[in-house]
Amino acid sequence: MFDLKITKASYLRDLAKEHEASSHPFLQNPTLNARQAINVLFNYDAHASLLRRLLLNAAGKMPEPAVGFILENVRNEYGNGNYDGCHQGQLQDLMQKLKRIEPGFKAQRVSDGVRQYMRTVVDYYDPQSDRGTRDFYLPAVIAGAISATEIMAIDEFSSLHQSFHAFNLENHIWFDHVTVEAEHCDEALCLAEYFLCKNDHKKAVEYGFKGVLDANCHLYNGLMESTSF
Ligand SMILES: [Fe+2]
Ligand SMILES: [Fe+2]
Repeated sequence: MFDLKITKASYLRDLAKEHEASSHPFLQNPTLNARQAINVLFNYDAHASLLRRLLLNAAGKMPEPAVGFILENVRNEYGNGNYDGCHQGQLQDLMQKLKRIEPGFKAQRVSDGVRQYMRTVVDYYDPQSDRGTRDFYLPAVIAGAISATEIMAIDEFSSLHQSFHAFNLENHIWFDHVTVEAEHCDEALCLAEYFLCKNDHKKAVEYGFKGVLDANCHLYNGLMESTSF
C-alpha cells in the first residue's frame, strides 16, 4: 500500500459506473453451463495474456516516481516470485476442473469482440504520439487506461464468481481476484492521482480511461459471444 491518498482520482470510480460498460449483461452474473464457462475462460485468458504484457511494458514507460505504482500488480500476475502461482496458471487450473464436467470438450476460438478489444486497448496502454493522442503526456494516458481496467476487473470477477457457484468452483484460488482486484484498483488510482496532482494531466488521464472503458464494451460483447459457440 502507498502513502499517497486518493483524493483527486476517486471520481474515476464514478465515471466508470456511469459508463455503459458497467451495465453490460456480462457483469450481471450470467448463467453458464460448463461448455460456456470453458469458452469464457479461454477468451478471458486471451485478453489477460495481452494485458499482462502491456502492463509490464507500461512500467518501463513511467517517470521514475510512478514506476512503483505498477510493480505490485505485475508481480501478482507472475506469481509473486513463484511462477507456479501465476494468474494464468490459476485460470488454466480452473479450466481443467471444468473439463472434468465436460470431458473432451475443447474451447472453440477467440471471439470477434475479444479480438476487437485486443486491437483497441493497445492504443491506450502503448499510445503513440502520432496516433490521435494530441499533445497528451503519454504516461498519464497509460495511467488512465490501467485505472479503467482495474476498476472494471472488480466487477468482472464478482460477476464470474457468482456464475461459478453453479459448478461449486467459487472457492477456486482464481477467485481470490475478487479481493486482489480491489488492491490493484487502489494502486492504479494512486498512479492516476500522481498524474492528476502533477501539472495538469487530467485530460490525458481521462482520454486513456474512457478509451479503455469503450474497449471493455467490446471485451464484454466478446465474452458473451463466446457463450454461443
Ligand atoms: Fe490476475
Ligand atoms: Fe488486476
